[in-house]
Amino acid sequence: MENEVTYTMPRIGDKAPSFKAKTTQGDINFPEDFKGKWLILFSHPADFTPVCTSEFMTFGIMPPEFEAHNCQLVGLSIDGLYSHIAWLRTIKEKIEYKGMKNVEVKFPLIEDITMNVAKTYGMLQPGESTTHAVRAVFFIDPKGIVRTILYYPLSLGRNFDEIKRVLIGLQTADNFNVALPADWRPGDDVIVPTAGSCGVAKDRMDNAAGDMTCYDWFFCTKKLPKEEVEKKLGKK
Ligand code: BEZ
Repeated sequence: MENEVTYTMPRIGDKAPSFKAKTTQGDINFPEDFKGKWLILFSHPADFTPVCTSEFMTFGIMPPEFEAHNCQLVGLSIDGLYSHIAWLRTIKEKIEYKGMKNVEVKFPLIEDITMNVAKTYGMLQPGESTTHAVRAVFFIDPKGIVRTILYYPLSLGRNFDEIKRVLIGLQTADNFNVALPADWRPGDDVIVPTAGSCGVAKDRMDNAAGDMTCYDWFFCTKKLPKEEVEKKLGKK
């Protein structure tokens, strides 16, 4: 059909689509320029709007926490570069919110006036808005694979503790070969992957000892001290 807009979106496990873009920190080649790092690519609906401002102030003070976890933040909206620069300057020079002030956003903010990146990454969801990106968050691992995707509507600001929890959770699952239960935080027990067969798993349950607890043959946890997680992944 003529003039039909195609909206695509990467899925968990897909290679993150590559693109070139202008940002507030110069031109980037995504994700290639950030090889070897975890990436959080997130979109916001528009510059000079209140929910987005509260999010940028919150994210703006967090980079050291993400750097400690080898993670680079990259923002995006379908505004132009001069709008981004003016908005970030306003945030730094004028806005004091919840004890945060002089917040300087140092991570790159992509201009996407053509909406190319927003369309490729499924950030435009026409049922919610045809002119603004929704609040999407893509977690991309150092091999360039999409590992988690979060979406929020225009009216709801994101929980940045959860974003940090997801990053640390993914890194913990990878590094310790474990899975993580509901509401897991560093220091909580982790799930030991189920052994191949039911019989082996039953044996494991019957012989559970030391730091392992089994709730049934398919559900065993073990301790993973916070210090061990921090030592391997970095502090904060
Ligand atoms: C906001 O960030 O406040 C916002 C942006 C676009 C639409 C609605 C709210």
